[in-house]
Amino acid sequence: MIKLPFFNRKRRIELQPSTLQLENIPDHVAIIMDGNGRWAKKRGLPRIAGHKEGMTTVRRIVKAANRIDVKVLTLYAFSKENWKRPQTEVDFLMKLPKEFLTTYLPELIEENVKVQTIGDLEGLPSFTREAVKEAMEKTKHNDGLILNFALNYGGRYELVHAVKNMMQDIHDNKLQMTDIDETCISRYLYTEKMADPDLIIRTSGEHRLSNFLLWQSAYAELWFTEVLWPDFDELLFEQAVSDFQNRKRRYGGI
Ligand code: FPP
Repeated sequence: MIKLPFFNRKRRIELQPSTLQLENIPDHVAIIMDGNGRWAKKRGLPRIAGHKEGMTTVRRIVKAANRIDVKVLTLYAFSKENWKRPQTEVDFLMKLPKEFLTTYLPELIEENVKVQTIGDLEGLPSFTREAVKEAMEKTKHNDGLILNFALNYGGRYELVHAVKNMMQDIHDNKLQMTDIDETCISRYLYTEKMADPDLIIRTSGEHRLSNFLLWQSAYAELWFTEVLWPDFDELLFEQAVSDFQNRKRRYGGI
């Protein structure tokens, strides 16, 4: 058991040292960052103020995940379904990846973070796509935490996309029907080279997956908190990891 001191910048207090077991850190943590709108509403602010504040939580949690050696942190930043929101909110959400990366890319590079994405990048405005592509390019040799943004992502869409590509490869004789098994299907998903998530966190009290990593979440441990994403912090992240460490994962065995 190694004690890790944490400092919570927002609350400006020294947090209690944690008692995480460093030999049992989840390799892949995925987060449904929910509650930005409600956070803003509670303060009489427009919804976009919640998204802006949520961006600072992203920075905080990236640091916390990196510090304890999580290998992959997947963040659900924009779903295929989020296009249904009012145009002004969609426009704001589309600008956030660029703003985040313009502000924090030097820090991410310094911290050896590798930026990646999953989702339909072609469906994003060019300024969003270019910002993430530049970040991916500039961090491609980093071998620390993989910060994986799910952008214009939907689990069902991902499966449709995979099936179409498999059919095309069968047609082109690059794949045989007899080759198709679970490993093969995993290779056709956006997460092709990533391990499945070990732990999925959802903030804001909702208890559902909302089309997030449907195939990959088969054996993920789920962790929920009432806390809204802008208020989520290192201590809660650590709590989620600590609870994960106390779960018994049986994968259908006994
Ligand atoms: C869900 O909260 C949140 C989103 C759809 C957007 C998530 C985006 C961020 C956290 C900003 C950071 C992004 C990047 C790329 C750095 P909601 O709006 O559904 O909240 P509500 O349920 O309270 O309305």
